[in-house]
This record gives sequence, C-alpha cells and structure tokens, in this order.
Amino acid sequence: MKKFQGVYIKNEREIACLAEANRIVANILDAVGDIIAPGLETMRIEELTLDICVKHKVKPAFQGYFGYPYAVCCSVNEQVVHGFPSARRLVEGDIVSVDVGVVHEGFVGDAARTWPVGEVRDEARKLLRITEESLYVGIDKARPGNDVYDIGAAVQQFVESAGFNVVRRFVGHGIGARMHEKPEVPNFRPSFRGITLQPGMVIAIEPMVTEGTYEVDILEDKWTAVTRDGRLAAHFEHSVAITHGGPRILSISDRGQRPHN
Ligand code: CO
Repeated sequence: MKKFQGVYIKNEREIACLAEANRIVANILDAVGDIIAPGLETMRIEELTLDICVKHKVKPAFQGYFGYPYAVCCSVNEQVVHGFPSARRLVEGDIVSVDVGVVHEGFVGDAARTWPVGEVRDEARKLLRITEESLYVGIDKARPGNDVYDIGAAVQQFVESAGFNVVRRFVGHGIGARMHEKPEVPNFRPSFRGITLQPGMVIAIEPMVTEGTYEVDILEDKWTAVTRDGRLAAHFEHSVAITHGGPRILSISDRGQRPHN
C-alpha cells in the first residue's frame, strides 16, 4: 500500500472494504440504540453485537486486542472509554457510551456513540449534544491539504467554548487493515505540525468530552478510563475517508446519518 508521510493511502477497493466494515458497525450501533433503556444489563449490548457479527460474518475487532476481553466497550457516566460490559443495569439518568469495532474482509470499522438513559439532567443532555456536534466540527476539517491537527484544534475550540473539556490521554487514529494506524488524531491542538491530509487517508475521529476535568484515571481492571473528578464524559466516533471532494463518513448506517442527540 502506498504511503504519504508514513500514512497509508487506500485505493478505491480498500476504501470500499472499509466502508462496508463501518456500515456494519453503524448498523450495530443503531441496534444498540434501540435497546438502550433503564433496566438494561450492559452485557446485553455485548450479546447483541456478537449476534450481529455472526449474522454478517464479521469478527469483533476489539476482542483480544492487547488482551481486551469483549467485543464492545460500554462506558457509563464518569467512565470515559474502554468500560467492560457487565451485569450492571442502566438506570434512568445515566449516560452510556458504546464503542464497536469489526473486521470485514481484513479491514476494520470503528465507531462510537453516547446515549441518554431515559430522562437525564440538562447538563448531561448538553454534554451529549456538544460532544456529537464537536465530532462534525472535526470531520469538517478532514480535507486534503489540511494539517491533521486542524481537526483537534477545531474540536477543542468548539468544546471549550461550550464550557466542557477534551480528554488528552486518548486520541483518534488512522484506520485500515489495522485498527490503529498512523496518524494520531488528537482532539486538541499539539504545539507542533502534523501530517498533511491526502485523498485516500482514512481516520477515526473520536472526541471524548468531559463535564469537568479532562484528567482520567485507569481502574484496577487495567482498562476502564474514568474522569478523575467523577463527573460525566461522552464519546462519539466516526471513521472518515479523506477524498478530493472533502470528508466522506464511512460509519453511516442503513438508516442514514442524523443527529442522535
Ligand atoms: Co477508535
């Protein structure tokens, strides 16, 4: 595969495979969204995802990745990312982030959304809306000729003007035959230049936004990232191809793209 500044440039066939992997991921997220409700055990999200993977003959991308034990990440409230599905039941007022990855014909799809569980307080609703909108603000910068860090700069500016913060500890990434490829796609502006985006690059943009501090801690399970102050965090992710005409979101479901919050 061709590279530019160390980043793989995908051809049409490879982009088509990535689009199919990501369409399946987005369909899984639609199905997950349909069952989110007070009383749901988060392990049901894992089971639903595994069922759909079998049906579509795709492999979960996360299971076994650096030893990660599940097909999905379910992160509730102050959990930022990489929460384990479990016997925990969602309760009214929670927010839950679900991150899904699959491998289809050797290519990886990766996307995430956060949902309110029943009625949530106004600040939580605003956090979901701003985080989702910040993803689209970032995607709009995913154009040939832009620096990859223009994405994070725009996300950070948007999020901070709304009074929230962006997590620094985790970043988005290039995606292709591997889940994590170059370049890193931070949700903030680093102090140096990044690579220049080119048609054929595919990146996962994934703002993680907090109500309070952006500092996170990792729990004893070695995976679950939580906000240091225990306040809420939300996470939205799309896989996006850079094309001559601008960003092309690959993780679009058969229901089409629409705001979820
Ligand atoms: Co990702």
